[in-house]
Amino acid sequence: MFANLKAQPADKILALMAAFREDPRSDKIDLGVGVYKDATGNTPVMRAIKAAEHQLWEQQTTKAYVGLVGDPAYGDAMIKLILGDAVARENIGAAATPGGTGAVRQAFEMIRMANPDARVFVSNPTWPNHTSILKYLGIETIAYRYFDDETRGVDFDGMIADLKTARKGDVVLLHGCCHNPTGANLNPVEWQAVIDVLNEVGAIPMIDIAYQGFGDGLEADAVAVRMVAAGVPECLVAASCSKNFGIYRERTGLLMAISQDASQRALNQSTLAFLNRQNYSFPPDHGARLVTMILNDDALRADWASELEYVRLSMLGLRQSLASELQRLTGSDRFAFLAQHRGMFSRLGASPEQVERMRAEHGIYMIGDSRLNIAGLNATTVPILAQAIVDVGV
Ligand code: LMR
Repeated sequence: MFANLKAQPADKILALMAAFREDPRSDKIDLGVGVYKDATGNTPVMRAIKAAEHQLWEQQTTKAYVGLVGDPAYGDAMIKLILGDAVARENIGAAATPGGTGAVRQAFEMIRMANPDARVFVSNPTWPNHTSILKYLGIETIAYRYFDDETRGVDFDGMIADLKTARKGDVVLLHGCCHNPTGANLNPVEWQAVIDVLNEVGAIPMIDIAYQGFGDGLEADAVAVRMVAAGVPECLVAASCSKNFGIYRERTGLLMAISQDASQRALNQSTLAFLNRQNYSFPPDHGARLVTMILNDDALRADWASELEYVRLSMLGLRQSLASELQRLTGSDRFAFLAQHRGMFSRLGASPEQVERMRAEHGIYMIGDSRLNIAGLNATTVPILAQAIVDVGV
C-alpha cells in the first residue's frame, strides 16, 4: 500500500527552516519562518503567559475533556478581542481549533460542506499553506490581483476588478491585517469598497487574522474584520493566538461562523462541533485556557497588552532603520515601502536569483519570493542585510 504514495511538495517555509538549521555558518541570519525573535534571537514566553501557567499549575485539578468546541469562555473572550461589539454574540458560532491553521482548515471544510461548487478566491500572493490546503481538499482556487510589484503596495484597482468576477456563493479569502507574505494592506476606505463588491456579487468573505496587535495595535488591527463582520450577511473568521500570545507550539486558534440571521447560529455551531469531532475530536485546551485567563484578568491583560505593544514597536523600529539604511546606501527612496508595510513580513521584490545569492554569499535566509521576517532582524543585522540587498542588486 505505502508503495503507492507519491512524494508531496515540501512547504517552502518549512524547507527553508531546515536549510537554515543545517547551515554551519555562525553569522547566518534567519528571516524565514514567521516567529517573533527579540534582539538576542530568542522567542520569549510572554510574561503574562508564564504567570497564567503558574496559576494554572496551582489551580487545575483535572485534565478531563472540556468540550468539542473548547471552553465557551475562550470563544467569548476571543470574540470580544477580535470583533468587539461589531456583531451580536448570538449571531456567532465559534469553535476552538489547533492553531490558526486548524481554523483555516475547518473553514475550508465548512465551505465545501455548505457549497461544494464554491470557488475560493485568494490574494496573489497569499500564505502558501492556504493554497496547499485548498488543493488538498479539492476546492477550486482563483487568485485575485493584490500586490503591485512596482509600488510594493496593493494593486487595489486590479483587486477590485478581479473580485467583481466572483459568483454568488464563492468565497473570498482576505487577510484581516498584516498581509502575509507582502506586508501591504488595505486602508478602511478600500476595505469598505471590498465589502461593497462582495455584497454586490454575493460572495462570502473569509478573514484570516493571525497577527492582531503586530501592525498598528490591537484595536486598529481589528478594524477591518469588524467592518466586514458587520457589513455582510455571512462570513467566516479564522484567528490565531500563535503570534500575539507567543504560544506557537500550543496550537491555539478559533474559527467563527457569523450570520446576520441569528436563526442560523445553531446550525453553524453544531456544524463546527461536528467538524472538530471528525478531524481531531476535542481541540487542545492548554493555550486556550491561558489566553482566557489573560483576557479575563485586568492585571494579566494589561501586562500582555504592554508586552505585545513593545514587540510591535520593536518591529516598527526595525522597519524604519532598514528603510533608512537602504536610503543612505542607495541615495533613493525606493525602499521606503519597508517602513510603510505592517506586520512581521515584507516582500522585498528581489528575484529568486537575488534571494539565492543573499543566502549563498551572505548567509541571509528569506523565502524564495523575497518575503522577509522583519522580527528576525536586530540592530547588528539591519546594516548587514541592507548591504547585502545592495550587493546583489535589488
Ligand atoms: C509563516 O507564514 O511563516 C507562519 O505563518 C508560520 C507557518 O506556519 O507558515
